[in-house]
Amino acid sequence: MSDGSIQVRSEGAVRVLAFHRPDKKNALTNSMYIALNAALKSAASDDNVRVVLLTGAEGVFTSGNDIGDFLHSPPVHESTPVIELLFILADYAKPIVAAIDGAAVGIGTTLLLHVDDSIATPRARFMLPFVNLGLVPEAGSSLLLPALVGMQRASRWLLSGEPFDAAAGLAAGLINELVAPESLQEVALARAQALAAKPLGALLASKKLLRDPLRAQVKETIRAEAKIFAERLTSPEAKAALAGFLSKKK
Ligand code: COA
Repeated sequence: MSDGSIQVRSEGAVRVLAFHRPDKKNALTNSMYIALNAALKSAASDDNVRVVLLTGAEGVFTSGNDIGDFLHSPPVHESTPVIELLFILADYAKPIVAAIDGAAVGIGTTLLLHVDDSIATPRARFMLPFVNLGLVPEAGSSLLLPALVGMQRASRWLLSGEPFDAAAGLAAGLINELVAPESLQEVALARAQALAAKPLGALLASKKLLRDPLRAQVKETIRAEAKIFAERLTSPEAKAALAGFLSKKK
């Protein structure tokens, strides 16, 4: 399925997928997840594609899941597009590079835990507001974030929901490199193309070796988080917080 809010283009052996819903800060709707999942599967099965580059648009990576969708078509089944995306990412065989400018909220931050090389600008701003929304971490982040940044920092980011900047993301190892906004696309594409030029068998086998040890646990965590997340979405706390976000904009 195609959706103009997920822009797809090829740059040699790199498949570039861009979130593009600028009027809503690239908030991800169910139809965007369906389009993204289809694009990721197509890139996975296309022998001409060796690396995927994920990016945003107009100075924003993504403001995360569309809050209206959380209220009106919540992710309750494993077949829900957002949950399917998480399993696709956890199993993705080809390398994924991410280019992050501006806000990366919720899944905009947690999906980076499944990315192999993340490049950001100093304007990147990360936020994990799950608890503030009456929700819980997702995308395997309750396992992968403490493994990456340590329990103390992961707890602060996941429990307080306080935003953190690109320098903090770099220091913690969430991202690999900071570049000026005007260079972001060029540098990220060059990184992706450099990976695409590597011996493919060795590249894929190496990614598999890096990801295999935690893969089963990651998928089990995604499943466990999704179950609690779905329960939380029906809670008065979450309903009030989500409705509050939508109504304060009116
Ligand atoms: N879902 C639905 N709509 C969203 C959204 C989201 N996740 N994020 C932003 N929007 C909408 C806003 O409601 C607003 O719509 P409007 O113009 O119809 O009022 C528009 O996008 C612009 O957002 P705004 O908040 O005015 O932009 P900003 O530059 O001041 O702030 C963010 C940008 C990303 C910091 C802020 O929008 C935000 O915190 N969004 C919510 C993120 C979130 O909690 N995501 C869920 C994670 S689980």
